[in-house]
Amino acid sequence: MKKLPQAKILIVDDEENIRKTLRMVLEYENYEVFEAGSGEEALERSDEIVGLDLILLDIRLPGKDGLEVLAELKERPYRPEVIMISGHGTIQSAVEATKLGAYDFLEKPLHRDRILLAIRNALAHKRLKREYYDLRQKAAKRYELIGHHPVMKNLWEQIKRIAPTNSTVLIQGESGTGKELIARAIHQHSHRAEGPFIQVNCAAIPEELIESELFGHVKGAFTGATEKKPGKFELADGGTIFLDEVGDMSLKTQAKVLRVLEEGEVQKVGSTKIQKVDVRVIAATNKDLSREIREGRFREDLYFRLNVVPLQAPPLREHKEDIPLLIDYFVRLYAEENNFKPKKFSPEAIEVMMRYSWKGNVRELKNMVERLLIMTESDIIEKKDLPEHIRQDEGVFLPEISKVKSLKEFRELAEKMFILAKLEENEWNISQTARAIETPRSNLYKKLEQYNIKIKAGVGEVVAPPGLQAAGGEESPNSTEQDGR
Ligand SMILES: Nc1ncnc2c1ncn2[C@@H]1O[C@H](COP(=O)(O)OP(=O)(O)OP(=O)(O)O)[C@@H](O)[C@H]1O
Ligand SMILES: [Mg+2]
Repeated sequence: MKKLPQAKILIVDDEENIRKTLRMVLEYENYEVFEAGSGEEALERSDEIVGLDLILLDIRLPGKDGLEVLAELKERPYRPEVIMISGHGTIQSAVEATKLGAYDFLEKPLHRDRILLAIRNALAHKRLKREYYDLRQKAAKRYELIGHHPVMKNLWEQIKRIAPTNSTVLIQGESGTGKELIARAIHQHSHRAEGPFIQVNCAAIPEELIESELFGHVKGAFTGATEKKPGKFELADGGTIFLDEVGDMSLKTQAKVLRVLEEGEVQKVGSTKIQKVDVRVIAATNKDLSREIREGRFREDLYFRLNVVPLQAPPLREHKEDIPLLIDYFVRLYAEENNFKPKKFSPEAIEVMMRYSWKGNVRELKNMVERLLIMTESDIIEKKDLPEHIRQDEGVFLPEISKVKSLKEFRELAEKMFILAKLEENEWNISQTARAIETPRSNLYKKLEQYNIKIKAGVGEVVAPPGLQAAGGEESPNSTEQDGR
């Protein structure tokens, strides 16, 4: 049986003899071989051949020579690897060619073993590049900002508008709303995307270290500074620095950061030298900075420096409609990362999750999805698999107090909500619920009737006519109301 070819190789040489010889050698090694006799033909063929891996490219060609072909190939996406072939006296150009991105060069006369070795290396290199590219794609996927709701679309619009500028951005928003993702998205869509993205968590660095973290230090600057160290601003040169939790910086550090923003200069701890840096600053906080300013914990001048372009990360409750989409996204993400089979959430489970008030926003939702994927045995995650506090939240809402007129009305509303929540918690099992709320079953039935609560079909027990239960005479009517609370 014929083995599948190892790789596709295009031989470009104007001498037919050389092409023939190379073809023989390569086909013997089970490569799939193509030929071109000129530079123009080489470019054409390289566009035609799907999944071309490698080009053996002679430097001296009629018409476009090898170097020109190489330069044009360079502009194309998914460029195959190139090994240059140089004749006598063209070695210098071959060296030039490797600078232009050719992987290797071979000198005529060609030797079989040398050719095969160069090809194997070039192909291995291509595979590595491919893997690296895939990894980068995967990493980028981790930072995707998901959401179709108008508030998210609007956020995207703003990100795209801000990204290409060099302006300082201040992202504010509650915990877990995606501030870090927004910062990364701005970087990724900026001209600095190829440059570094350096994140500094201002809240996590102890006060005495933050200055050296941000600006670096020279050897011997303080006890423990045994080596010189670059600061984050220096590392971010040509890229973006993300000052996360900027509201947690001390006033002293704020003064220093302000100077960098004003002058674009940093000074290492223990050094007198001043260094210019080209850094775009993005800051984020979940604190209310205007309040921090009022209370004297944040410098107003720094605030104005940072707040050139303000961005607000919307809380999840403002785009609840994105919850199914987010759940789906997180399920896939975990399945992919952990080689799990993706599980599904039942429509009822999703409904409950949409109603729950996620105080930790998207982060809390994400953690919950991960936890459910790990903890649930079956392939479908149902409402009953959701933790109690999430199911309990369902239907429990405090009425707008101003709309409730009498104490009696309020008490009844509260009682109804309490019973609903407890029923939900006890999977609508009447006996269990009655036990849980420490009331006789008969009384619970009475309450269900009073509040017109229908026991869901198929869950809990069979609904008995309330009258029957009350006939047991366990309690007098209105007993709860008479509690007087
Ligand atoms: N819109 C979104 N799409 C996808 N994932 C999101 C989204 N928003 C947040 N996340 C995820 O939720 C988690 C928290 O996001 P992130 O760290 O960006 O929040 P944050 O606003 O910086 O929170 P904190 O104020 O607590 O630092 C991350 O795992 C992030 O990937
Ligand atoms: Mg954050």
